[in-house]
Order: sequence, then C-alpha cells, then structure tokens
Amino acid sequence: MAKFEPVLSKYFNEPEAWTLKHYRARGGYYGYATAKKALEMEPKAVTEEVKKSNLRGRGGAGFPAGVKWTFLPENGKPRYLAVNADESEPGTFKDREILAKDPHNLIESIICACWAIQSNHAYVFIRGEFTREAKRLQAAIDECYAEGILGENVLGLGKFKLDVTVITGAGAYICGEETGLLSAAEGRRAYPKIKPPFPAVEGYFRYPTIINNVETIQNVMHIIARGADWFKSIGPESGPGPKLFCVSGHVKKPGLYEVALGTTLREIIDMAGGPIGNIKGIIPGGSSMPIMTPDQLDTPADFDSIRAAGSFLGSAGMIVFNDQTCIVNALLNLSRFYHHESCGQCTPCREGLGWLEKLCHRIEFGHGKDGDVDLMNEVSVMIKGRTICFLADSLIMPVQSYIAKFRDEFEYHIKHRKCQTATEAGKFKALEEMAVTA
Ligand SMILES: Cc1cc2nc3c(=O)[nH]c(=O)nc-3n(C[C@H](O)[C@H](O)[C@H](O)COP(=O)(O)O)c2cc1C
Ligand code: SF4
Repeated sequence: MAKFEPVLSKYFNEPEAWTLKHYRARGGYYGYATAKKALEMEPKAVTEEVKKSNLRGRGGAGFPAGVKWTFLPENGKPRYLAVNADESEPGTFKDREILAKDPHNLIESIICACWAIQSNHAYVFIRGEFTREAKRLQAAIDECYAEGILGENVLGLGKFKLDVTVITGAGAYICGEETGLLSAAEGRRAYPKIKPPFPAVEGYFRYPTIINNVETIQNVMHIIARGADWFKSIGPESGPGPKLFCVSGHVKKPGLYEVALGTTLREIIDMAGGPIGNIKGIIPGGSSMPIMTPDQLDTPADFDSIRAAGSFLGSAGMIVFNDQTCIVNALLNLSRFYHHESCGQCTPCREGLGWLEKLCHRIEFGHGKDGDVDLMNEVSVMIKGRTICFLADSLIMPVQSYIAKFRDEFEYHIKHRKCQTATEAGKFKALEEMAVTA
C-alpha cells in the first residue's frame, strides 16, 4: 500500500483538538493556507479549484461538488449552504467524528464554500441523537463569533458576512435525504420532494441551496490550501482524495480508517485487524449497497471501481460478514430498518418494503414457501425506480444482490426450515473471538 499521510483525521486523537486554541496553534483561520487564502481569491476561482479537484460527494451519490455549485442560478436571490450531518445510514460513523473532534476544520471549510457560492448563511443539519457532536460544533461556532471569525465581517477581512446555524433533527433516516432534510429544516415533516427542481435551484424555503455532506465540505479548505493538483494526486483522477472508511462487522479492530481513495478493500480490512473467521460478504458503502464477495476483495475502494464491480462506494460504511453470518437474517434486519424508516408518501415504498420484510421474516423463521425467493425478486422489481426518493431502492439493492449471490441460503431455509450457516456453535465461536480481540 502506498504511503499515506492522514488529512481529515490527522488531529482526531489529540487532546482538545476541537477547541479554537488548538486549531489556531496549528495555523487555523489566520495562517495563509486557510480560509484567508480563499477570501483573497475571486469566488468563482474557488469554485473552479474545487471543480478541478474532482472532489466527489461523500454523502452517498458521489456527485462532483464543484459542478453542483455551478448549478446555482444567477437570479440575485439569497443562497444557502446546507451541510448534511444526518448520518443515519447503518454502518456509517465518519461525520460525527469530524463534528466532535475537528469542528473548526469544518467551519473553516464552510467559510471557503460559502465564499465560493456567495452565501451569507450556512446551516448544519445534525441528526438528533448526536448531542455531543451538536454541542461541540455549537461551542466552536460560539468561539468563532466571539473572535470575529464568523458574523458581520468574516475574519475581519471586510469581504463578507456569514452566519452558521446548527439545526438538530429528530433522528429519522429520511432527514438525510436532501429534500427531506430541507423540509425538516423548515420545521415541517421530513417528506422528500420530487426532483427537479433540484435544491440548487429551489431549496431552503425555495431559495437556491447547495447541500453537501460534512466530509465533502471538510475537504474544501484542504483543496484551497494545497491546490487541486495535490488533491488529484491522491487516488484515481476521476474521484480522488483522502477518504474516511467506517469499518465494522467481523473485523478484529472495527473503527474509522483514513486512506487514499483507490486503496483496496482487502487493505482496508487488514488495517482493521483483518477478518474474524472467513469472509462471506462485504458491504462497501453503508447497508443499502449491493453486497460484494471475497473474490472481489482486491477491488480498489473508489467510486468507479466499486461501481464497475457491481456495488457503490456510498457513504463508505464498510460492513464485513464472516461465514457464520446468516444472510437471510441479515436481510431481515435490513428490511425491518428500511420499512420502519419509510416516510409513507409512496405506496410502493410504504407497502412494498413491508411485504419484503414479511417474506424475509417467514423464510427466516421456517415458514417460507416454494416460490418465495422469486416473489421477493418480483416485488423488488415492482418497487425499484417508482418512488419519490431513493429510500425504497436502499432496500431493493440488498434484496436483489443478496438473492443473486446467496440464493442457495434462501432456498435452504425454505426447504429445511432452518439455517445452513449460522450454527449456534459458530455464532458463539465468532462472539468469543470478538470478545478476545476487542
Ligand atoms: C434515504 C436517503 C438518506 C440519505 N442520508 C444521507 C445522510 O445521512 N447524509 C448525507 O450526507 N447524505 C445522505 N443522503 C444523500 C443526500 O440526499 C445528498 O445526496 C447528499 O447529502 C449530498 O451531499 P454530497 O454531494 O456532498 O454527497 C441520503 C439520501 C437518501 C436517498
Ligand atoms: S420512497 Fe419511501 S421514504 Fe422516499 S418519499 Fe417515498 S415513501 Fe417516503
């Protein structure tokens, strides 16, 4: 593996790294290679640099950030930046670390981004359960107002005014979907809306709004500080940069690992201490992504390579399953989650995800019927692409990929009314190993 110096998580383990005192001591805000540099550039030049860097969204879809910023209409209306800190995708725990451990880095990046898009108000939408994160970010924002870093005259440079407001959600998964997030931020139920119009044209209270994930934004000041060419030198040119991977499941050292995009899945799992037992499957990007198999471990973990291998990088929440994992049980767990989180607006999602959960439940508990696996596939085909937002597809992708790759396990459950793999002895063995290595 090529040598890699952490960028995003460099200070995560230093005591008090979240304070302004610590941030200033490492050159933050007032050093040249910071927001000050961005504010000395033309706003469009900042956008161009981000565009040139090929920074792709870290929230799930991997859309190029700089390109998104150019979609803002030139209509003289106020514009907003909404930073998506909802982080509800199972297996994902990177944004909360940024918020809690290096909030000033995020604020400095928000300043750069708002200058680029000429916005005077940024909102950070944090999921309700993240109380520590919301408190740390609010404390950092307060420090910035007290020091004149935020407010009427950002950094005292006489360039622009910027307010940053923290909004806490109520903990629903759908608040992370961008239009659902905006509805919740406006004080309404987090119902997603049909697109277009996209938020860049009609967003927060119908004003143009750029929505980016926390980690996407956190990269911005590093791109301005060190340049797009430096950023592009890290990983594949079509989607480069440092990346936080959240590794969980059957690995010896679950946790957050920062690597260059393009590091292989195997290398990342090795950093996490290696697997516990033999690997059966890997979800590369959060629980909604299609599952990959051990023969794909040498796939580079970047947007295009994972896509070419039949899955998505998503939110980089990597979950490892060993061969003691019951795939039917795992899918039941997911279907329960996504059905529960459906906002209920679209019938295929509200009802269809429930049907999938019921089918999975009866197969898992020994009541499956011949033809149930095909029925699950058929139901999933009827749901796919027929809903307002992508939440329904978040279950369809696992359903279709688990059946395609592990159909024999579903059929075994139906025929023998029991599980092929997760023997009680095996379950206990895996748990014992986990306890030893924890
Ligand atoms: C159901 C659903 C949940 C989502 N949850 C999140 C989330 O928790 N955090 C996030 O950044 N993006 C989430 N997204 C993606 C956002 O809609 C949006 O694409 C993203 O915030 C854009 O930022 P990015 O381009 O920087 O990735 C979710 C999307 C869907 C469909
Ligand atoms: S797909 Fe599901 S979560 Fe999304 S709008 Fe429709 S019902 Fe709501």
